[in-house]
Amino acid sequence: MSKIQAAITGVHGYVPEKILSNKDLESIVDTSDDWITRRTGIKERRILAKDKPTSFMAIKACEGLLSKTNTKPEEIDLVLCATMTPDMLTPSVSNIISKELNIRNAFAFDIQAACSGFLYTMITAEKFIISGQCKKVLVVGADKMSYITNYNDRTTCILFGDGAGAILMEPNLEGYGIKDSILRSDSEHGLDLLKIEAGGSKNPCSHETIDQEKHYIKQEGRNVYKYAVEEMFGASKEIMNRNNITSDDLAYLIPHQANERILESVAEKLKLPKEKVMITINKYGNTTAATLPLCLWDYESKLTKGDNLVFTVFGAGFTWGAAYVKWAY
Ligand code: COA
Repeated sequence: MSKIQAAITGVHGYVPEKILSNKDLESIVDTSDDWITRRTGIKERRILAKDKPTSFMAIKACEGLLSKTNTKPEEIDLVLCATMTPDMLTPSVSNIISKELNIRNAFAFDIQAACSGFLYTMITAEKFIISGQCKKVLVVGADKMSYITNYNDRTTCILFGDGAGAILMEPNLEGYGIKDSILRSDSEHGLDLLKIEAGGSKNPCSHETIDQEKHYIKQEGRNVYKYAVEEMFGASKEIMNRNNITSDDLAYLIPHQANERILESVAEKLKLPKEKVMITINKYGNTTAATLPLCLWDYESKLTKGDNLVFTVFGAGFTWGAAYVKWAY
């Protein structure tokens, strides 16, 4: 019998209607459309209404996915959501999705690995599928970054946006799906360069932490940038080498969308033409756990069965990784 692999069998996404353009940001912080475009490639990002939580976007993406793939809620046996902006600390966004979509035969939990969250979650789903325990898994990436973004800080507020994406994963016996993966983390260098200082058990939110703006995401952008290029390149190269894939064999690189210059550097180091890199950062910014499924959603019509794809991510922690996938439809 052929080996079981976990294949992606559907994808859908959701972004809020409200657009925050670079021009809009010019009236909020000391910046310019020209600076943001040149330094990041971002032109606009989407912002969810203040009174709506992350699950609102995740549910929209999953609803569309179930309908598009003709999947009944009772067929789903696992719901996994990657997010660093859950509606509340507990219950999980995955449990909220399950309740709202009437998914009654599944177990559900969230995974927090910041911008690497979606890849970590997809690979977790893969393990439940290849073990034979699960047949239909809903893998979601959703983040409402606007609620942890400091709109007084021009070095971060230009980067982030809100969005959600979801994929359906199922067993495949014909050689399609996830072929290989690399997941890594380096907590020695990562802990201080990208973080939210307050709001957790170490430093609970108080009037003081709010006055000091410690409940917002902070980073040392230039340092994070260097690590992101090195690790996304390194993981992609390693996975391509050990599976004998050259840049000619690759249909697309699907990188986490943090900064278009990071994507260009990774592509250049891999000797990959820019047309082979999925890019959505210009219109959505960095949506953290949602960037990969939003890329797939955007490029779905361009993909063909058998395409070789390499996913790569980098995020807080630090966390990073890559996966080699043979597209299944
Ligand atoms: N508008 C105008 N000027 C800005 C600005 C803005 N929005 N943000 C920063 N600047 C200024 C800085 O103050 C600095 O001015 P100075 O030279 O007078 O001190 C100058 O631009 C250069 O700043 P620097 O931080 O070196 O810019 P950069 O080219 O590294 O770009 C980031 C900054 C944040 C866009 C970039 O470092 C980045 O994308 N880093 C990775 C972030 C990331 O991916 N985070 C998530 C990880 S998954």
